[in-house]
Amino acid sequence: MPLFSVWVQPMRVLGIETSCDETGIAVYCAAEGLLAHTIYTQTEVHAPFGGVVPELASRDHIRKLIPLLDQVLAEASLTVRDINGVAYTKGPGLVGALMTGAMMGRALGFALGVPTIGVHHLEGHLLASFLEEDAPAYPFLALLVSGGHTELIKVEGLGRYTQIGDTLDDAAGEAFDKTAKLLGLGYPGGAALAKLAEQGDSNRFHFPRPMTDRPGLDFSFSGLKTFALNTIETHGLDDKTKADVARAFQDAVVDTLTIKCKRALQQTGYKSLVIAGGVGANLALRASLKKLCDKFNAKLFFPRQEFCTDNGAMIAYAGCQRLLAGERDDLSVKVSARLGL
Ligand code: KG4
Ligand code: ZN
Repeated sequence: MPLFSVWVQPMRVLGIETSCDETGIAVYCAAEGLLAHTIYTQTEVHAPFGGVVPELASRDHIRKLIPLLDQVLAEASLTVRDINGVAYTKGPGLVGALMTGAMMGRALGFALGVPTIGVHHLEGHLLASFLEEDAPAYPFLALLVSGGHTELIKVEGLGRYTQIGDTLDDAAGEAFDKTAKLLGLGYPGGAALAKLAEQGDSNRFHFPRPMTDRPGLDFSFSGLKTFALNTIETHGLDDKTKADVARAFQDAVVDTLTIKCKRALQQTGYKSLVIAGGVGANLALRASLKKLCDKFNAKLFFPRQEFCTDNGAMIAYAGCQRLLAGERDDLSVKVSARLGL
């Protein structure tokens, strides 16, 4: 019999995401998994401007952060005293927006006397699949496709990331958004374009598959929106043409990403492929990569749709892993618009 025993609480980490136009708050527990999370999207604030207005984003995060924190704690039946770690997104992103979450996270960590850490936004995306029951194991190949990034990454463990492919110009999500804008689908248009593509005829237009005719794992998507523009100028913008252009564009992006993933699986010999980032919500992409993985005897992993786009749960998860590894930040608050992984 021990003379005394010490009750050790499991690590419960509050995650705060404010890098762009989503306010995400979550609590992840090392022992019990995700306890609660919420995502508030500012789409309505920015839609009239056709893109994210940084100052409005910061102000809206400030308005929402504390009510959302209260909501998440109530959902998890916790009080703020039950939190024993804090993680916030430190970059990349909009500096003002990042500051709102970082300041709240850092202040809360200080007030509660708990370890606090800034998390790289892309690390959050890379590890989001670990929030699911069907989670990957290291090592795996990650296809990170978001509004700002299109990368192929070898993930060998926490913090062990090697980029093996990158975009030379527009990111996949950016190409989706710009093409959606050409089709009059508003901002952000990725999901709306994907929906419209379902009604499109895949045989009417054929868009190029950029950089697939040469070796390598890099991408270039900026030519596709020009191709879309030329097609619209030639054929007009009636409803059928809109849907057919959306379909041809999506087919081209999905095919291109699939061809590069195939090469990367061959090159690495890895048997697990993880999709991360907002474009990972695209069902046509998921279906195409599933087919590829089946052919290669590999397994495909992806987070549920709401964890593909920006969210607090992925930051809470990644922060929890870093804190468990003994990492902590000091009291200074450091955020960066640009930040290498
Ligand atoms: O990861 P994310 O939320 O933000 C960044 O970190 O960039 O990704 C947002 C991007 C946007 O470009 C959006 O249009 C795209 O993901 N997206 C989609 C879909 N849902 C979101 N693109 C294609 N199909 C979708 N279903
Ligand atoms: Zn993101």
